[in-house]
Amino acid sequence: MTAHHSILLKNIRQPDQHTLAGAESRGAYSTIKKALQIDPLKVIEEVKTSGIRGRGGAGFPTGMKWSFVPRNSGKPVYLINNADESEPGTFKDRLLLENDPHLIIEGMLIAAWALQSNWSCIYIRGEYGYPFSRAKKAIEEAYAKGYLGKNIFGSNFNHDMVIHRGAGAYICGEESALMESLEGKKGQPRMKPPFPAVSGLYQCPTVINNVETLANMPFIIENGGKAFLSIGVEKSSGTKLVSASGHINKPGVYEIDMGYPMKRFIEEECGGIWQGRKLKAVIPGGSSVNIMTAPEIEKVNMDYESLRLAGSSLGCAGFMVLDETTDMVEAVLNLAHFYAHESCGQCTPCREGGHWIEKIFTRISRGQGLPGDIPLIENVCAQIGGHTICAFGDTMILPYLSIIKKFPEEFKERIGEAIRGQVKPREYLNVVYDGAH
Ligand SMILES: Cc1cc2nc3c(=O)[nH]c(=O)nc-3n(C[C@H](O)[C@H](O)[C@H](O)COP(=O)(O)O)c2cc1C
Repeated sequence: MTAHHSILLKNIRQPDQHTLAGAESRGAYSTIKKALQIDPLKVIEEVKTSGIRGRGGAGFPTGMKWSFVPRNSGKPVYLINNADESEPGTFKDRLLLENDPHLIIEGMLIAAWALQSNWSCIYIRGEYGYPFSRAKKAIEEAYAKGYLGKNIFGSNFNHDMVIHRGAGAYICGEESALMESLEGKKGQPRMKPPFPAVSGLYQCPTVINNVETLANMPFIIENGGKAFLSIGVEKSSGTKLVSASGHINKPGVYEIDMGYPMKRFIEEECGGIWQGRKLKAVIPGGSSVNIMTAPEIEKVNMDYESLRLAGSSLGCAGFMVLDETTDMVEAVLNLAHFYAHESCGQCTPCREGGHWIEKIFTRISRGQGLPGDIPLIENVCAQIGGHTICAFGDTMILPYLSIIKKFPEEFKERIGEAIRGQVKPREYLNVVYDGAH
């Protein structure tokens, strides 16, 4: 086993950590009491010093985001904790919401103090019933003890917190669609600028951060930004929660120091590839990033810069491992169903293109592919990328294009079989996909 710092999962296995009494016995809420004695701008400086980058996927520096919020604008400042967690392969926030919700609440209170925000919201995906009830109960307990509400910890600072359930739409994890949804409207992204820090929820200054980002705040303020910066690597400080799934012996959520070698992560933390098989590919960031082949991951480290330089992305570290038996046509079709279903429909290229691509992959999978299908997919992708309001379209095409580029023989073979009329009976061919959602 490898020694990693344990900032977020330190108490995750304690059976009573989800209760206020249990969490408090292990130090919860001790840092917010101290933070309330520190000038809010100094708290932001500490977060900047830590170098922490947003854990929701984009990796934007958190301290910088907070410093964009105008002070004394005369409008309320809102804080939103993005717990929508719908990226395929991602389930790390869920673990914190279920087992250490007070860590999240304390992190939110530190952010709220820094931003001088009197109202915050946890926006949680609709399917997360159990995490919702755990987090809701934690908020109620915090209110009952006076840790939320008026004059918290005798500081004259007031803070109200609510938890809001989404209705099961992937797009509502995109921050501006999330705000539309919170305002009671259809969850569809807004044009940017203006950015949420200036004009967000109800056109007021708003900070949106991922659950994991906020859960790091107690450590950063307790130990200082420099302590956080000293963990990990230069431009990717701290630890990272990785949701590891797929063909590995030990799937689960792991907390690793940023910059950890990927191959070692698979072999040691994940227990290697299951059933003694060989590694074929990894989708390292959640499904909306470029796939990496086994040779490509040989020397790569798990941090923002290393994965970017290797042509993929750390994203939110939804780490999906595929073994040598994986049928890449079926794998990409699975993703195509997801994205076609989840497009919010606002932008024509994403709405229409997503379905076209799904249809083309479907016919290839059924052994009905046409000779020009691969160039056609590339053409449709080119018309989606860069032509939509939000990043959904830009990132949906990454797994499609990288999979057909890196595993061309599998597509050629399937299309070739169709052309020659040699379609082999496969189990999946019996599954009727009617395109209905
Ligand atoms: C289609 C789409 C879905 C997203 N889903 C999530 C999500 O489920 N959770 C999340 O934290 N960020 C998600 N994001 C990123 C958010 O828009 C935003 O960047 C993030 O919540 C900011 O927090 P951070 O700076 O702490 O990462 C999504 C973005 C896109 C384009």
